[in-house]
Amino acid sequence: MASTDALQLKALSESDVAGCMALSAETGWNQTPDDWALFMRHGTVFGLPDSDGRPVATAAILPYPDDFAWISMVLVTAVRRRARIGTRILQTCCVELTRRGLVAVLDATPAGERVYRPLGFEPMFGLTRWQGAVAGRVDGELSADTRLMSERDIRGVAAIDAAAFGANREFLLESFFQRAPHLAFVTQNLDGFVLARPGRIATQIGPLIAANEADAMALLRAALGMAHGPVFLDIADRWKAVADLLRQKEFTMQRPYLRMALDRSAPFGDPARTFVVAGPEFG
Ligand SMILES: CC(C)(COP(=O)(O)OP(=O)(O)OC[C@H]1O[C@@H](n2cnc3c(N)ncnc32)[C@H](O)[C@@H]1OP(=O)(O)O)[C@@H](O)C(=O)NCCC(=O)NCCS
Repeated sequence: MASTDALQLKALSESDVAGCMALSAETGWNQTPDDWALFMRHGTVFGLPDSDGRPVATAAILPYPDDFAWISMVLVTAVRRRARIGTRILQTCCVELTRRGLVAVLDATPAGERVYRPLGFEPMFGLTRWQGAVAGRVDGELSADTRLMSERDIRGVAAIDAAAFGANREFLLESFFQRAPHLAFVTQNLDGFVLARPGRIATQIGPLIAANEADAMALLRAALGMAHGPVFLDIADRWKAVADLLRQKEFTMQRPYLRMALDRSAPFGDPARTFVVAGPEFG
């Protein structure tokens, strides 16, 4: 891993958000300035600046104490690819996480998977990004078992999420709630929830955590019923009835992801309650 020093990486700050947005938009990704700022506030974004100081490559680490951290935003501008920049920036993240005693976890695109496997990342489970469009407010989609989330629910929601995800990320759930409170729902008995947030291209629904697939579908119907326009969601591949519901609503599969961790294949938390993940950038 000695070659990482030669990359001249710097830790980016919120003054770099516009440059980071240019990089993620170039690849067609959905993140917003709020997302990038959140990585900078709660984690670290490594960037490779060009001569003007604009990042031409990035990778973010977001610690989720106590066991692991998320790696995301692994991006290399198109004209600089296949020069091992992606590999070396990833190595920098892994060295930093090893130093902090945290396992590196990520959701890999097929291109990213080719970079991560040789570094020792192992598959945990597959995900699929679904995309579609919804027409807007359909109150009839709200079943008797679900209700709108309120700010008072966030603490309990964070506990449900922590049991399923494997780490408490209340700061993230609070941020999503503030960005789209009208798309946040809980089950009446408070054992499941869904959150969503606006993206650059589409509303991203997730995370959606539930005790069973029927509750998950009720929460999903509630969020889809209140969303408007293009929607993305990243669903664990095991949930066939959820996929069928999306097909009925004319959603299509956009791309696969593979959840991977460095030197580890056992998932954290409880994947049996994880229906829609927050997204590859947040886990
Ligand atoms: C994935 C990405 C970060 C790779 O960055 P990079 O700097 O080009 O990667 P590297 O040069 O370190 O590639 C290392 C190895 O991975 C493999 N690899 C990387 N990209 C590949 C591709 N598009 N097709 C096939 N193999 C690929 C090759 O084996 C490569 O080694 P080689 O060039 O010596 O054959 C870059 O392509 C990118 O930004 N893609 C779009 C965003 C994305 O998908 N990011 C990953 C998110 S999980």
